[in-house]
Amino acid sequence: MVSGAERAGLPVPALKELFAHIPTSVAVITIASGAGRYGVTVGTLSVLSLEPALVAFALKADSGLLPHLHTGRAAGINVLADGQSDVALRFATASIDRFNSTRWCEEHSLPRIDDGVAWLAVRVEDRIVLGDHTLVTARVEHGETSRLTPLLHWRRDFHSPNPIASAI
Ligand SMILES: Cc1cc2nc3c(=O)[nH]c(=O)nc-3n(C[C@H](O)[C@H](O)[C@H](O)COP(=O)(O)O)c2cc1C
Repeated sequence: MVSGAERAGLPVPALKELFAHIPTSVAVITIASGAGRYGVTVGTLSVLSLEPALVAFALKADSGLLPHLHTGRAAGINVLADGQSDVALRFATASIDRFNSTRWCEEHSLPRIDDGVAWLAVRVEDRIVLGDHTLVTARVEHGETSRLTPLLHWRRDFHSPNPIASAI
């Protein structure tokens, strides 16, 4: 079967290679679920708008988190620091207790992973199916930052940014 990417002239392996060269931040989306909690690693976090304060991330169609993220649902966004590649991998692993051996606390009734670069408490606004992913847009209600260095994902590996001289 010929995929959409192949019809567009890019074989799927070439497209995957191309996308792997786009560096991304690494974040864990968390929700409280009854007495438990759920979290998933994403590399698709984007800032969308200042007024109103909107961010977005994309989840694949078979994501276990997606069915929970209806409009109005509260969620946490944990932007990971450069020492947290183990956390990123844990929250991308199936069939384990992802919060076990993760240092986290509860904030605004949401699970917050300790020692991240930034923490956002958001409320889901909208969901837009786009190809094989669903874009989830969310309004920022609370946020906190740290002075830690972010974790980056690039060419299928984790990296720490090299600071360069400020442009301004
Ligand atoms: C660095 C990194 C970035 C990822 N980005 C995404 C993403 O943006 N969207 C997504 O759906 N899965 C992404 N994943 C994969 C999910 O974390 C992984 O498939 C996870 O097991 C999904 O959990 P779930 O099945 O409980 O939803 C990423 C994984 C890693 C390691």
